[in-house]
Amino acid sequence: MTQDELKQRVGQAAADYVNATVAPGAVIGVGTGSTANCFIDALAGSKDRYRAAVSSSLATTARLEARGFKVLELNEVEVLPIYVDGADEIDPHGAMIKGGGGALTREKIVASVAEVFVCIADASKRVEVLGEFALPVEVVPMARVAIGRRMLALGGVPVLRVRPDGSPFVTDNGNQILDVKGLRIHDPRALEAQVNGWPGVVTVGLFASRGADLCLLGTDTGIERIDYASH
Ligand code: A5P
Repeated sequence: MTQDELKQRVGQAAADYVNATVAPGAVIGVGTGSTANCFIDALAGSKDRYRAAVSSSLATTARLEARGFKVLELNEVEVLPIYVDGADEIDPHGAMIKGGGGALTREKIVASVAEVFVCIADASKRVEVLGEFALPVEVVPMARVAIGRRMLALGGVPVLRVRPDGSPFVTDNGNQILDVKGLRIHDPRALEAQVNGWPGVVTVGLFASRGADLCLLGTDTGIERIDYASH
């Protein structure tokens, strides 16, 4: 099965899970990326079951609205029973690297409010130790070099994310992203806290202190459900 087929299957499995577990009339949190897009498409047929969605990026907002979902600002919402999003890597404890699509800050904010975080991923995202995928760090542009030096001191190799035309990639929040290669992240909670404490860091793409509660993993043999509360 191709990676795209696995993403579609896991998107459908996530839509089935949300329809089965979330009460009608709820507001749902929706992530960003190609797997999250499959989830949006799979859920579109049940959009009237939900009051609205809270989105983690401008791209997701556009896709949700194109499929007829109402999108609310997080500030307008009191309770978010569920947040469904992809990941670039997920470890055996539900800690993740996210931000390959550049939406890490809004993703982390929405995830922090949600009662349940469901990670949806194809099997290639499952790792024993995080760090093979370059760790995204959203930075205020004036701090880019200073943060890069700190990452070098930790043994990482920071690379400024650029657009196809060579200009710096700009996040939905007007910031830049360093992709840090070469890290083997054995203690993601500690690294998340450390990097988030550096002035100029907006968000590090480690989701460990608020990791996934559940992962729906698309494999060649079907959807594997991993529940991290039991780990
Ligand atoms: C977006 O910023 C990311 O956090 C995505 O959730 C992550 O990159 C996974 O994306 P795909 O589903 O496209 O692999």
